[in-house]
Amino acid sequence: MLSALARPAGASLRRSVSTSAQNNAKVAVLGASGGIRQIVSCLTLYDIAHTPRVAADLSHIETRATVKGYLGPEQLPDCLKGCDVVVIPAGVPRKPGMTRDDLFNTNASIVDTLTAACAQHCPEAVICAISNPVNSTIPIATEVFKKHGAYDSNKIFGVTTLDIVRANTFTAELKGLDPARANVPVIGGHAGKTIIPLISQCTPKVDLPQDQLTAVTGQIQEAGTEVVKAKAGAGSATLSMAYAGARFVFSLVDAVNGKEGIVECSFVKSQDTDSDYFSTPLLLEKKGIEKNLGIGKISPFEEKMIAEAIPELKASIKKGEEFVKNMK
Ligand SMILES: NC(=O)c1ccc[n+]([C@@H]2O[C@H](COP(=O)([O-])OP(=O)(O)OC[C@H]3O[C@@H](n4cnc5c(N)ncnc54)[C@H](O)[C@@H]3O)[C@@H](O)[C@H]2O)c1
Repeated sequence: MLSALARPAGASLRRSVSTSAQNNAKVAVLGASGGIRQIVSCLTLYDIAHTPRVAADLSHIETRATVKGYLGPEQLPDCLKGCDVVVIPAGVPRKPGMTRDDLFNTNASIVDTLTAACAQHCPEAVICAISNPVNSTIPIATEVFKKHGAYDSNKIFGVTTLDIVRANTFTAELKGLDPARANVPVIGGHAGKTIIPLISQCTPKVDLPQDQLTAVTGQIQEAGTEVVKAKAGAGSATLSMAYAGARFVFSLVDAVNGKEGIVECSFVKSQDTDSDYFSTPLLLEKKGIEKNLGIGKISPFEEKMIAEAIPELKASIKKGEEFVKNMK
């Protein structure tokens, strides 16, 4: 599985891992024995199952990074101490017929518990939550950090990079472009119609008639569900998610290590719309977000999608916030 990730991203994977080791950036993955675990390798790995074997496997990768597995809640504090970046893919994935919101009942408490441990044991760390529903788990992480008096809005990210990767792939396929050179920002949230690809801002510039624009937008929004259907009960996207997670975390680790000019889209606390959280392109720096680059110039079609997404975003955000408020 790792080779599937290492081939397209091999050079940058090795570079990023080595760089982070030299600069002492410590990364933890919580939920590290699941299908998305292969995203990074210079890390402390925590899960409620299987981390010794995952750590043994990953520790053979040719980098200076050390890899250590931690198993069960009593080992979580040691896993987190001194971490600069924490990645959270812990939780259950979808089965056919489920929405991301259907995962809320199980994953909300997992994210609540894990982010509470982060707020206690590595309050300065940058948090990247992959666990779905992202539109609710980021408000959960925020409320938990607030509860512990450790909140910094620049340090809590919902990982939506797979939407950008899919938008680049599908748009490039349609126009015969090299997908590696296409860049389509995706804003909004990470579920169905809240996923808003800004094809009008694609670089290189592409012109699509409205029927193709509508079709490719739908394809991007429903791509996760297509994978869930294809896997027929065996979970959701893991390999493409591992690639997307690696891209996001390496961007972040590069920024943490002082590299300038790094931009990624992510679902964060935001004042761009009526929704308190919204994904937009972000300029990253050592301490997380340096600058929110905002929505920029968009088409009427994209404006309409934003208006239609806001009520769903607000409901998902409220659900996450209330979950934490109702926790003892
Ligand atoms: N943000 C995205 O774009 C995106 C894409 C794909 C999947 N996901 C989400 O990522 C999550 C994980 O997906 P997966 O395919 O890796 O699932 P998986 O079932 O393969 O792995 C999940 C892992 O989490 C672990 N886990 C469960 N409870 C835990 C706890 N309390 N503490 C620590 N670890 C715990 C499990 O033991 C398992 O190893 C799901 O919620 C899925 O919906 C998000």
